[in-house]
Amino acid sequence: MAISLRSHMYFLAFCASLLIPTNCQTEPPENHVALFIFGDSLFDAGNNKFLKNAAFRADFWPYGETFFKNATGRFSDGRLIPDFIAGYLKLPLLPPYLQPGNQDYIYGVNFASAGAGALVETRQGTVIDLNTQLGYFKDVEKKLRQELGDAETYKLISKALHLFSVGGNDYIAFFTNSTALRSFSKEEYVRIVIGNLTTVIKEIYKNGGRRFGFANVGPYGCAPYSRALSSSGGCLEEATALVKLHNRELSKVLEDLQKELKEFGYSILDFYTSLSKRMDNPSKYGFKVGKVACCCSGPFKGILNCGVKNQYELCDDPTEYLFFDSAHLTDKAHNQLAELMWSGSPDVTRPSNLKTVLKA
Ligand SMILES: *[C@@H]1O[C@H](CO)[C@@H](O)[C@H](O)[C@H]1NC(C)=O
Ligand SMILES: *[C@@H]1O[C@H](CO)[C@@H](O)[C@H](O)[C@H]1NC(C)=O
Ligand SMILES: *[C@@H]1O[C@H](CO)[C@@H](O)[C@H](O)[C@H]1NC(C)=O
Repeated sequence: MAISLRSHMYFLAFCASLLIPTNCQTEPPENHVALFIFGDSLFDAGNNKFLKNAAFRADFWPYGETFFKNATGRFSDGRLIPDFIAGYLKLPLLPPYLQPGNQDYIYGVNFASAGAGALVETRQGTVIDLNTQLGYFKDVEKKLRQELGDAETYKLISKALHLFSVGGNDYIAFFTNSTALRSFSKEEYVRIVIGNLTTVIKEIYKNGGRRFGFANVGPYGCAPYSRALSSSGGCLEEATALVKLHNRELSKVLEDLQKELKEFGYSILDFYTSLSKRMDNPSKYGFKVGKVACCCSGPFKGILNCGVKNQYELCDDPTEYLFFDSAHLTDKAHNQLAELMWSGSPDVTRPSNLKTVLKA
């Protein structure tokens, strides 16, 4: 008795602390909430390092320097938002789906890919687009059914949390890519992006998914990367307008889905507002620097070359910074945002926080 209690506590302690990402003992499926992760670099735990022609990779120093002491493929000095959410759920860190040898999906898995958007065309051939991520999810669901049977798998998927960060790269593509994209109006383009995301949500729902979490699109028009492109060092207002339009439409569509789909539960973290507030007023949140990145080079450290030999500068203490590189946040920033996502008040999580959605 004493031994089994101790080993159980040991399991909780070392999984929740996220110190050792693998080898957590398997809890019976009925006792945990699995985590399936979709989207872009905000959530990618290293899938891109297994792609032949990845648009972006972060599996080299100094990425990972503070928490993992080594690069994992995460675009940060440490953990990402889903890593902290896994901690709240008492799960081990979810491995990248493409990691060779990974066959255990009981706790979930991470499909996200840096650079990916909701549209197939966004950085086509150099990312795992959202539709392909959905295909991987369906493969996982099939493997689980072979392993656990239909009823247990349905239970696992319907209790699971499906976490999304997607859209930012579609809007970057809108501005940086061909005139072809520009032939759409902003409103049309947003509708197509959200339309593709909606299709994926509905497919997961059809496979049993009931609980969904979203980070809406952040203020990328004001990231160090964008400020470096703007002549005044200010925000790229056109990008900001598009992102705001997307975020309004996302809220509306999810509200409609909840009316349409029985038992559909969701939470949106207002990542846009939460991050903007920290950029504008870093000291209020325990940061010294809000608008300049820790790693990279050039004005605002806005040139995305963190880790590229002899080209970048690195700050001494990432905990003073909101941005680790010109487009991605530090472990400390992710920790704060994950806490908001998990248990934040209704002004930052709509219609309620993740903890509440998972209790329903
Ligand atoms: C860091 O990662 C690299 C490759 O990803 C690996 O070869 C190396 O052994 C790791 N170092 C430590 C200290 O874990
Ligand atoms: C630009 O658009 C084309 C066609 O729409 C697509 O194949 C390509 O991947 C896009 N490039 C980027 C960087 O998104
Ligand atoms: C999804 O995106 C494609 C372009 O990749 C577009 O043609 C299609 O209409 C979109 N689907 C929806 C439902 O909006």
